[in-house]
Amino acid sequence: MNQKRSKTSLLFDEDRAKNYDRFSQIWMPNYDVFCDWIPSILANKYLRRGDKILAVGCGTANEIISLLHSNEVWHITGIDPSLEMLKVAKEKLKAYPTVSLIHGYVNDLPRIASFDGATLLLVLHFLPDDGQKLSLLKAISGRLHRGAPLVIADIFGDKTALESNLNFLVSTLSGKVNPTEILERQQKIRNTIHYISEKRLEQLLQAAGFSSPHRLFQSTIYGGWICTKL
Ligand SMILES: C[S@@+](CC[C@H](N)C(=O)[O-])C[C@H]1O[C@@H](n2cnc3c(N)ncnc32)[C@H](O)[C@@H]1O
Repeated sequence: MNQKRSKTSLLFDEDRAKNYDRFSQIWMPNYDVFCDWIPSILANKYLRRGDKILAVGCGTANEIISLLHSNEVWHITGIDPSLEMLKVAKEKLKAYPTVSLIHGYVNDLPRIASFDGATLLLVLHFLPDDGQKLSLLKAISGRLHRGAPLVIADIFGDKTALESNLNFLVSTLSGKVNPTEILERQQKIRNTIHYISEKRLEQLLQAAGFSSPHRLFQSTIYGGWICTKL
């Protein structure tokens, strides 16, 4: 467990945390649009005023800010293993003292169903599919009430789909991003990201006690889904 901890939290050191928001705007086209949809989607069908949402791997709090900009009054808890990312999140959330930020992993939370909904945005693709993805999904499932929605965003696809979507992504960046950065990032996605197909995501979600995911967003290599705890 300790080894897994240091590996994943090392991914987001101080430099990466400081540059993350700039990086995500360049490398995740329309991701902000997806984040802005989340509150309306949750409010229309799944959540009520006063409900509790767990933002897993909240990083610099992008999804939390979107949730706060809705008219709903939800109680939001963000959790992340990277102190550096949480430092940036804390600064951005200064005006919202009611948001709780926790340094740690979902398994550190009491194993009781205490949340009405959760987000897992751009986290799962960092975990190998050797039991670690399933274990995180089970940990989340164990903290949710029956019927609670889980919103996911992740890099996805089989190898062929990933390659062609990666080419589309790169073509949107030419002239805007330094070619060396483009090459390095392409290599990182190919070699260090544990992307999976949508079919595999469905299997993992079902094994963790969720419904089949409904894809409601795609932008090149990135997908966005919603499912519910059964
Ligand atoms: C790419 S950032 C995404 C941040 C934010 N969710 C967003 O969409 O902008 C990934 C975050 O996942 C966190 N993370 C890594 N491993 C994790 C794990 N096992 N459980 C929860 N969060 C994890 C990292 O520390 C990092 O802050």
